[in-house]
Amino acid sequence: MMHTNVILISIFLTAIVNTAACGNITISNVVPRRDTDGNIMDIHDGNIFLYDGLFYYFGASYGLCQEPPGPSGCSVWHPGGCGFQLNHNVSLYTSTNLSDWTFRGYAFQMSSMKTPGILFRPSVLPNPKTKKWVMWFNFLPSSGTGVSQSQFAVAISDTPHGPFQLVTDNVTSLAWDNTGDLNLFQDTNGDAYIIYTSHIDGTIYNPNHLMSVEKLSDDYTSSLGKSFNSGFFGETFVEAPSMFKRNEIYYAVFGQCCCYCKEGSGVTVYTSSSPLGPYKTMNNLGNEGHAQQFNVLQYRTSSDTGYGYLWQGNQWQSAPDGLKGHDFNYWTPMSFNQDGSVRYMNYTANFTIDVVSKIHSNRPLSHHFKI
Ligand SMILES: *[C@@H]1O[C@H](CO)[C@@H](O)[C@H](O)[C@H]1NC(C)=O
Ligand SMILES: *[C@@H]1O[C@H](CO)[C@@H](O)[C@H](O)[C@H]1NC(C)=O
Ligand SMILES: *[C@@H]1O[C@H](CO)[C@@H](O)[C@H](O)[C@H]1NC(C)=O
Ligand SMILES: *[C@@H]1O[C@H](CO)[C@@H](O)[C@H](O)[C@H]1NC(C)=O
Ligand SMILES: *[C@@H]1O[C@H](CO)[C@@H](O)[C@H](O)[C@H]1NC(C)=O
Ligand SMILES: *[C@@H]1O[C@H](CO)[C@@H](O)[C@H](O)[C@H]1NC(C)=O
Repeated sequence: MMHTNVILISIFLTAIVNTAACGNITISNVVPRRDTDGNIMDIHDGNIFLYDGLFYYFGASYGLCQEPPGPSGCSVWHPGGCGFQLNHNVSLYTSTNLSDWTFRGYAFQMSSMKTPGILFRPSVLPNPKTKKWVMWFNFLPSSGTGVSQSQFAVAISDTPHGPFQLVTDNVTSLAWDNTGDLNLFQDTNGDAYIIYTSHIDGTIYNPNHLMSVEKLSDDYTSSLGKSFNSGFFGETFVEAPSMFKRNEIYYAVFGQCCCYCKEGSGVTVYTSSSPLGPYKTMNNLGNEGHAQQFNVLQYRTSSDTGYGYLWQGNQWQSAPDGLKGHDFNYWTPMSFNQDGSVRYMNYTANFTIDVVSKIHSNRPLSHHFKI
């Protein structure tokens, strides 16, 4: 009998990692965020997407109107009131490190709509199949004094800079009508989802905001309706949702309605092994920052496989000069327990995170040679 000596030699070649724009950055929640021109960033709601070494930050600009004094900016809840003006655009800022932001102009302009209206909560994703950038936003068409039901609009662009061109001002494919806040989420396989609220009795003033998640079509410009909807889950009277994924667990995070409220809103975490649920309630993260969530950003850290998660919220009614566009943003890094639950978010005046925007890395090489 012949014996073959097989010697396995494993050669592990260390990955060559060249990290540009990496390192520990400190971000303050108490100093106004200024862009590289020195202007306070007028960007609220929205989301951030890392693409080709740059973070693209899309959000609504509300302008420098005077907010009503007091605990709620919603005492002027009518078209033209501060926070409800008909000229909100989608601003774009870019950064290599989440700290220094450059204003790139308006990625979408309200003046490009046929009917003006009030724009809230834009969210943007690039579509890997169509190579288009796709923007959804909440739109309340207005003829002047009145406002009709809130609906979702979609616009697309060949580049993240825009200008995004309107595809529809009223998405009709959704499982539920009378929609409210929204956010988009892209899974690692390229599938995308919208998490959004609706008011099932059909009036925008009814506080019956209910949350669900729905899959988007392949091109992201519509949704797949009831058979691809999670069904309502979690608490009622909720808004300002966000989704993210960590270690194969899907997280949906949202809190009680807070119409431009100074108090802010605590958020509850719901998790599932599938993006369309079923979701189970994990825990509440508190409201130490007195902010209302607009997004959770997943970012790379300089450990080759590491990710961090940044919670981002609006501190309504917080501008020292009372100008809406100067309201503060409150961000805080999220931390996790072994079981995947998110730890209570203590207040942080500032924090330091390790952020990488660009990695040129050769895959770790492992060759087995038979001798
Ligand atoms: C970031 O800070 C951590 C903890 O203080 C430190 O271990 C690490 O070396 C720092 N990273 C860089 C790139 O400076
Ligand atoms: C962030 O990146 C910019 C260049 O893109 C650099 O000028 C700035 O110093 C960086 N900020 C920090 C805190 O590292
Ligand atoms: C939106 O853009 C228009 C220009 O198209 C500008 O006149 C308007 O002031 C902008 N709105 C805000 C709130 O900045
Ligand atoms: C928008 O579409 C919905 C159906 O999804 C419809 O009920 C509503 O009337 C439409 N709104 C407008 C302004 O056309
Ligand atoms: C929040 O603060 C408490 C009390 O100081 C501390 O025990 C806990 O570890 C902190 N949580 C986080 C996520 O840092
Ligand atoms: C961060 O906050 C702490 C506590 O409020 C403060 O002592 C420190 O000076 C701040 N650091 C920066 C860089 O703003």
